Amino acid sequence: MYLLLSHSTLLALLYGVEFVLSQTAPSTIINVSSLLPDPRTSVVSSHLTSGVAESTTVPATTSGSLFTTSATLTAVPTTTTVPSSSSSAPFPPVGSIPRDYSPAGLSRLWDLIGPVEVPPITTTVIPQTPVTLPSPPPALYPAFFAVTPKDILPDLKFPKGFLFGVASAAYQVEGAVKDEGKGPSIWDWAGHQPGVVTDNSTADVVDLHYYLYKEDVARIAALGVNSHSFSISWARIFPFGASDSPVNQQGINHYADVIATHLQFNVTPVVTLFHWDVPLALNAYYGGFASPNIVDDFIQFVYLVLSSHGCCIIHCLALKHHSRYTFNEPQVFCANVGVFPFNLSLPNGVNSSNAQFHCSYYLLKAHAGAVKVFREMNISGEIAFKSSDYVGMPWRANNTEDVDAVERHAAFGIGVFADPVYTTGDWPQILKDTLSPDYLPRFTEEDSKEILGTADFFAIDAYRTYWNAAPPEGIDACVSNSSDPLWPSCNLEVMFDFNTGWASGPASDPLTSWLQATPQFLRSSFKEYHRRWPAPRIYYSEFGFAQPFEGVRTPAELFQITEDTDRTNYYMTYLGELLLSIQEDGMPVEGAFAWAIMDNAEWNSGLSARFGIQYVNYSSPTLQRTYKRSAFALSDFFQTHLQKEVAI
Ligand code: BGC
Repeated sequence: MYLLLSHSTLLALLYGVEFVLSQTAPSTIINVSSLLPDPRTSVVSSHLTSGVAESTTVPATTSGSLFTTSATLTAVPTTTTVPSSSSSAPFPPVGSIPRDYSPAGLSRLWDLIGPVEVPPITTTVIPQTPVTLPSPPPALYPAFFAVTPKDILPDLKFPKGFLFGVASAAYQVEGAVKDEGKGPSIWDWAGHQPGVVTDNSTADVVDLHYYLYKEDVARIAALGVNSHSFSISWARIFPFGASDSPVNQQGINHYADVIATHLQFNVTPVVTLFHWDVPLALNAYYGGFASPNIVDDFIQFVYLVLSSHGCCIIHCLALKHHSRYTFNEPQVFCANVGVFPFNLSLPNGVNSSNAQFHCSYYLLKAHAGAVKVFREMNISGEIAFKSSDYVGMPWRANNTEDVDAVERHAAFGIGVFADPVYTTGDWPQILKDTLSPDYLPRFTEEDSKEILGTADFFAIDAYRTYWNAAPPEGIDACVSNSSDPLWPSCNLEVMFDFNTGWASGPASDPLTSWLQATPQFLRSSFKEYHRRWPAPRIYYSEFGFAQPFEGVRTPAELFQITEDTDRTNYYMTYLGELLLSIQEDGMPVEGAFAWAIMDNAEWNSGLSARFGIQYVNYSSPTLQRTYKRSAFALSDFFQTHLQKEVAI
């Protein structure tokens, strides 16, 4: 994400080199030629990451011979990038919009966005014919080169009851943005601001999963996978977000039927209560997650969803074996709060620089309060939040600064939320040593007691694993200089091996330059998660891959789109390693979810970076879905490595 500093400033500061802006990549990419004369011996380059607290990634490309390297410095966060500035994004001063909960008040909120696209379908579609899986594609490679999914580690099986599913999120798939009483969310608004989404697409219609969910669930079931992890849109339930505002019964009825449909198809629903789509009203009223007011509003939203008012939802949520998440990837979400365009709605006393940590503080309180409510309601099943990313490995073995860089990466990444919840009830010490209380509000004893232990399992969205290195000027120099572009996390993420210069794995789409496929590190990553944040169960809550250049292909190239070999290889190698992690390392992993059920609105990359195991033809009036090769591979892998169907 972008930075509060320009790239030129950053690079000049870091390496004193000249650089040119790439014409082809999004505005966040900078190419630096010959920055690394020999990758075996130099630490270099950076890729700026989310907000102020994430680390900086160093992808490297080889040109010509392996050791003639040019580094691509990419300002890409963990998964989401936002331009640092834009022409204009009108947003009224926080608190200036009255809390008018009437239809006129709702229209006024929608006026902040302007006209939205009307979907081609406006009622729930009931499929007329059952969905069946077409014949699988022929083998990808000759058997001497690659085995078919069923022949990968055929003697190893997932444990009984394993949830093997696909994942989605409301904003990214639902569309029908203004239908059936829904209020606007901050991402509905952001997607309409100039310069925020690379290809200027919006999620107004996108997959129209809101009306097509029956077919979508049938298509999941046809694959033979047994679970779907999806999120509920807060603004569909509370259009104005606030706990004292009206509830939208249509929203409740909708999710009740979504859940009932999953049960009908024997697909276990796993619900995320918040996947980054804050009701826009809450940003307008008080600054969203940068304000303490969010805590009660979130808790009340969760209470409503779990209570008798959302009676049909509770029917599902109370199921045995069922798990649910409060928050998706809070570290990525909070890293965005102080960044354009979300920094236009910060409350007094919070600025772009400290917003991330204020958000982290309130979000943890909201999470703890929601879990308390859940537990007091005596609902069976389990609850946690979804962490994201990796711990890291020292880039230069035995280099103490790089060892420290890993600790900083872990502390400023997963540790921000996982330490307080799983191990200490407090921020990682590294954060407290680096950030003053006006940056990072301190927990009271009471806060700590309430937060510690508020997760029944550990969930991790683990797409990749890289190395970490100390900044070129050294960690101490960086930590003591809050103007350092790497401050406060003061570490670099490196995507190529120090000794050999080879990449950690194959690259994904240029728009997702944060992502290389790194199956070889999956087992050590899971061991590290479990060692640092022990929990009785682990869910591998998201993993997936953006097939390079899929987003530029036209519907006429469907035969090339469906042949998503890189994504297929990603899934097969990760799943094989996951089996080994469970069976040989004893990791208590009880579920795995492929991101994503289908192509969708990939935040700032819009429709241009594709993660779906199903293609969506956005030019067709029915938004037709087509299974890609990876979907068949997942289906085959699941059927042949599961011990027994999970009982719902
Ligand atoms: C997020 C998804 C996102 C995916 C790919 C995950 O971190 O939860 O919303 O689309 O990564 O970037």
